[in-house]
Amino acid sequence: MLEVKGLAVDYYTEEGIVHALQGVSLEVRPGETLSLVGESGSGKSTLALAVLGLLPRRARVSGSIIFRGQNLLSLSEEEMRKLRGDRITVVFQEPLTALNPVFTVGRFLKDVYLTHKGGSEREAEERALEMLRKVKVPAPEKVLNSYPHELSGGMRQRVLIAASLINEPDLVIMDEPTSALDVSVQAQIIRLIYELKEQVKASFIFITHNLGVAASVGDRIAVMYAGKVMEVASKGELFSNPLHPYTKGLLASVPRVSGGEVKPIPGTVPDLRNPPPGCRFHPRCPYRFEPCDKEVPELKEVEKGHWVACYLWR
Ligand SMILES: Nc1ncnc2c1ncn2[C@@H]1O[C@H](COP(=O)(O)OP(=O)(O)O)[C@@H](O)[C@H]1O
Ligand code: SF4
Ligand SMILES: [Mg+2]
Repeated sequence: MLEVKGLAVDYYTEEGIVHALQGVSLEVRPGETLSLVGESGSGKSTLALAVLGLLPRRARVSGSIIFRGQNLLSLSEEEMRKLRGDRITVVFQEPLTALNPVFTVGRFLKDVYLTHKGGSEREAEERALEMLRKVKVPAPEKVLNSYPHELSGGMRQRVLIAASLINEPDLVIMDEPTSALDVSVQAQIIRLIYELKEQVKASFIFITHNLGVAASVGDRIAVMYAGKVMEVASKGELFSNPLHPYTKGLLASVPRVSGGEVKPIPGTVPDLRNPPPGCRFHPRCPYRFEPCDKEVPELKEVEKGHWVACYLWR
């Protein structure tokens, strides 16, 4: 469905060049959910924006993003606009900024449908209602005529999830869709996403900084750190057999219901204007050895379906 190869993104800012992504390669298979997990600043949103063609002008991109056989980086603005909202859709963290305050939920959903599918106002309305039912909005007829400010955060996010699915997309990107919500609402939305991904044919990229959330939604998990993919494996494999020292650190830093020591990873995410040479994790890595600060370890398949970028597994 999607194959990202050697993707690099640099942001040109007045304070210098931010090397936000370097040599990122990933694939998303038909019908699967790939969770992207990593600390804040690891480049998750940059990857999402690159796929959506929504990077700011000051960003320089190289590599390729192949979506259903087409390199998205070689498409025009116009061609990307046709795909976005139709074949590739997105749900961002903050639902209020994604909704126009002067339009009702019904108008918004109908426009998302009509822009790409055409058809009559009535067909669009029926489809909008169907989607509101699908995302389990109570009293969908009433919500159709409501304005965004009249809804709770959780309800708004349900509306945006409905919009992301209304055109039966091939790929849905969710970037921290629950991070702005209260914990109890967060759990309801995660449950909903889990149910929906089983019902629809689309592939999902689910972005989160929370490993537990990544595991509850994803089929496979890609761990990112400082603009690089460090490890990719199925959810079961990643939890039972983590290979990258960063993944091990992340797992050890998650509090558990059963208790036990929580060990945060020492140090902080590097400034990407001046990323560490070699393995970007080396300043924080308890296992670093002779090649780590000089050469960049490649992401390699070391066991079937299990990829890791670390010299320990050369
Ligand atoms: N528009 C931008 N201009 C300059 N730097 C940016 C911009 N967006 C993100 N960055 C930088 O790129 C890096 C990756 O950020 P981001 O993709 O937002 O990470 P994440 O989503 O994992 O938190 C960070 O160092 C961040 O400061
Ligand atoms: S390559 Fe070296 S520094 Fe990087 S994670 Fe592996 S052992 Fe640690
Ligand atoms: Mg982000």
